Amino acid sequence: MTRKILVTSALPYANGAIHLGHLVEYIQTDIWVRFQKMAGNECWYVCADDTHGTPIMLRAEKEGITPEQLIERVHGEHYRDFSGFLVGFDNYYTTHSPETRDCANTIYGRLRDAGLIEVRTIEQYFDPVKQLFLPDRFIKGECPKCHAKDQYGDNCEACGAAYAPTDLIEPYSAVSGAKPELRNSEHYFFKLSDPRCEAFLRAYTSSGVLQNEAANKMQEWLGEPGDNKLTDWDISRDAPYFGFEIPDAPGKYFYVWLDAPIGYMGSFRNLCAQKGLDFDEFFKPESTTELYHFIGKDILYFHALFWPAELAHAGYRTPTKIFAHGFLTVDGAKMSKSRGTFITADSFLKTGLNPEWLRYYYAAKLSATMEDIDLNLEDFVARVNADLVGKYVNIASRSAGFIAKRFNGQLAPADGSLPAIRAIQDAAPRIAELYEAREFGKAMREVMALADGANQYVDSVKPWELAKQEGRDADLHAACTNALNLFRLLTVLLKPILPVVAGKVEAFLNIAPLTWADTGSLLAAGHAINAYEHLMTRVDPKLIEKLVEANRESLAPAPEQQSQQRHAEHQQKAAEAPAGEFCSIDDFMKVDLRIARIADAAHVEGADKLVRLTLDIGEEKTRNVFAGIKSAYDPAQLVGRLTVMVANLAPRKMKFGLSEGMVLAASDPDGKTGGLYILSPDSGAQPGMRVK
Ligand code: MSP
Ligand code: ZN
Repeated sequence: MTRKILVTSALPYANGAIHLGHLVEYIQTDIWVRFQKMAGNECWYVCADDTHGTPIMLRAEKEGITPEQLIERVHGEHYRDFSGFLVGFDNYYTTHSPETRDCANTIYGRLRDAGLIEVRTIEQYFDPVKQLFLPDRFIKGECPKCHAKDQYGDNCEACGAAYAPTDLIEPYSAVSGAKPELRNSEHYFFKLSDPRCEAFLRAYTSSGVLQNEAANKMQEWLGEPGDNKLTDWDISRDAPYFGFEIPDAPGKYFYVWLDAPIGYMGSFRNLCAQKGLDFDEFFKPESTTELYHFIGKDILYFHALFWPAELAHAGYRTPTKIFAHGFLTVDGAKMSKSRGTFITADSFLKTGLNPEWLRYYYAAKLSATMEDIDLNLEDFVARVNADLVGKYVNIASRSAGFIAKRFNGQLAPADGSLPAIRAIQDAAPRIAELYEAREFGKAMREVMALADGANQYVDSVKPWELAKQEGRDADLHAACTNALNLFRLLTVLLKPILPVVAGKVEAFLNIAPLTWADTGSLLAAGHAINAYEHLMTRVDPKLIEKLVEANRESLAPAPEQQSQQRHAEHQQKAAEAPAGEFCSIDDFMKVDLRIARIADAAHVEGADKLVRLTLDIGEEKTRNVFAGIKSAYDPAQLVGRLTVMVANLAPRKMKFGLSEGMVLAASDPDGKTGGLYILSPDSGAQPGMRVK
């Protein structure tokens, strides 16, 4: 029986460019969808731009255009980028659509009728200059815990503390700089704390719709019965806002996260109109169709709690499964603009890199877990060249020419009992299961092992030698025919990942589009193939250098790029580890640590803790540094020693003179033992060497 499947990827925000991090998700989803289609299922893949919210409104204003103009332009850019990476949506739509508005109104109306919407007055910061209520991320001020300046309204990047914007000291609007005022406003809430929602969510999130890690997270968020951990969800925003006005509440708009998942329905409804599909068949409560959402782990809360609860209580089906993936790192670290690893989709293609290289590399790294995946740029080159060019393409390029030149393009009978052929045919169902289970990495390891087997066959029969020998025509013909059959079978297994290569193979083998069922057959004797067409080049490492250069930026990322408000307590972008607990390598590298030779050391008249150090760090001039180490060191014993200093600390004017840096010293945290120990490098270190 063919399955009927509706698949979505998260809707990207319409205020930023698609980058290689996003592509993890869209490529993962696309591979899965292509596999389902090849397997003969009816599978629809929809997505859209997520177009509403304050950041998009402000961004448009800054560019001097309307939000509608902004989202239209970005829609074009996103669509171009996804097409460039061969992401084959059946519909790429927008949340700013009549269908989404209609679905949002219906869902809201039904939730309200079910008694699950409540209106409450809340106190919120208001920007008196811009005349707008400010989202948490647009309010800045001094951290109430560590007093770091210029921290966001939801949490402190210096110490990691989470708080409400009203806790900030000296708050100011990040939009206008004005001092915000607290104002009352009526907001609409979805009563997630209602016993019906809680009971539903307990049952739903433990029913196998989530990966284990995700189900555990949910358990944490739900707590034990009676804990009442679920809080109501604020689903309205006040004008001015770019979004849908709430039907019975003029001046109030649906919060972007209310209409974003509804955008899945809107996009599908639009597709239904194009294709004559029955929307209700897919969304009625008793639907036998399947619904899958591919998402990043950062938006699990929205998809596993809010969204199913909304659907269930508005009389719709709930998702069959929610597939969350991890975050992309590049060379082991969070993508960084200063290192040039915040790589846009567009720059990748413009640099001349082949999108199928990335599709293959991601596939080789992807699994069904929420673990982060790393794009190691060196490994990328090595892996693509070794696997795709060295193992796979090689099989065809070594055998196709002989068929054309010596046998008029016609094939001999294939040997169905050949172990290498049998191996692929036996493995096909197992590989299908791996695709179904999103274990693409495991699938690729199997496919490459099978490609090794195919190459061993070619190496053992040596067509290039047979071609030189008298009277070996039949052997040559059989060898090349078998090799091309092996190649065709491997192409089926790789087709969800390499659709363009597969298309070229179909053209050159002169066959109909390959489907999964083709793993069960071989090419018929006498079948005529076309001329071999070049399939794929090797990755030139110079292209990678160019790519990184093209993306290197000395400017800090614009705050509004990152600033879409997320459910603050549940924000868990793993790639962005909470400050306080971790600092990024970028942050660490900002500290310029140098080996310093203590050229001179002296007591400071009138200071009971300080020693004046004259430090040589290989620069023309020595540095003057005051160090609070008098209790532990006699200046005379320090002269000539090597130590470590912070060389780029802003100079500080002290009572005794200018301090141009800081030396590092160890002490126990609460100062009980009183010991103080300056650092010494290992012998061999020279003044001026960078410490990192
Ligand atoms: N607009 C929301 C989603 C609404 S869904 C109803 C959003 N947009 S986003 O543009 O920030 O992200 C879109 C998807 O890309 C999310 O699933 C997100 O997890 C994923 N990724 C964004 N950056 C990523 C990485 N660096 N790595 C992997 N996935 C990433 O969230
Ligand atoms: Zn702080």
